[in-house]
Amino acid sequence: APVVIAIDGPSGSGKSSVSRAVATHFGFGYLDTGAMYRAVTLWCLRQGIDLTDAGAVVAAAKDLPLGLGADPQDPTVELDGDDIAEAIRTSEVSAEVSKVATNLGVRAVLQEQQRDLIAIIADDFGGVVAEGRDITTVVAPDADVRILLTASEEARLARRSTQLHGTADAATVAATHDEVVRRDRDDSTVSQFTVAADGVVLLDTSALDFDGSVAAVIGIVEH
Ligand code: CDP
Repeated sequence: APVVIAIDGPSGSGKSSVSRAVATHFGFGYLDTGAMYRAVTLWCLRQGIDLTDAGAVVAAAKDLPLGLGADPQDPTVELDGDDIAEAIRTSEVSAEVSKVATNLGVRAVLQEQQRDLIAIIADDFGGVVAEGRDITTVVAPDADVRILLTASEEARLARRSTQLHGTADAATVAATHDEVVRRDRDDSTVSQFTVAADGVVLLDTSALDFDGSVAAVIGIVEH
C-alpha cells in the first residue's frame, strides 16, 4: 500500500525544504498544504474579497482554480493557469494568511481537498509527504509516519531570515520577527506546537543543519 508521511511544524522549522528532500529520497510525491491557504489568500486579495467575510472566503476556497504539482523537485503552484509560486510567498500574503487559516469553514473545505489529494498523489507515486500544521492531527491522523518538526524560536528566526533576505544578521532577524512570531501567534487557535499529539514523533531540529534534519526524518521513516 502507498506510504503516507505527515509532517507538521511552525514557520522556520524547515518543514517545507525537509519534506521535499525526504519525498525526493523515497521517490514520493509532495503536498504543501500551506500553499493552499496562501493561494486562497492571494485569490481573495486579487478579487477584492474581504478576508473577514467568512462566507465569501469559504466560497472562494471551494471554487479556487488551483493546480498543485506533486513533484517534490518542482512543486508548481498555479492559479487559473498562472504561476503563483512566488506570489503566494510575498509578505503581503504572509501577513494576511492567518485570517484565512482561522476561518473554520475554509479549513473544512481545504482539509477535505487535502485528503483527496493525499490519496491521489500517494497512488501515483507509491507514497506522499504531506506537510502543514494539522496534517498529523486532523487531515491524516492515520498516516503511516507522523512527525512534528520543531526548532527554537531563535533557530526559526535565523532560518527564515536567511531564506527571505539571504542573511541572519541582527537587524534582519529582528525584521523577520513579525513575519514568524506574530504569524505563529495568529495561527495558535488552529495549531499548537508545544507538545506532539499522541503517536506523533517530535523532532527538534534546533541543533541540526538541513542535511541532519533530512537524515533524522529518513531515520524515523525507516525505523
Ligand atoms: O511560511 P510557512 O512555511 O511557515 O507557512 P506555510 O506552510 O506556507 O503556511 C502558511 C499559513 O497557512 C500558516 O501560517 C497557516 O496560517 C496556514 N496553514 C494552516 O492553517 N494549516 C496548514 N495545514 C498549513 C498552513
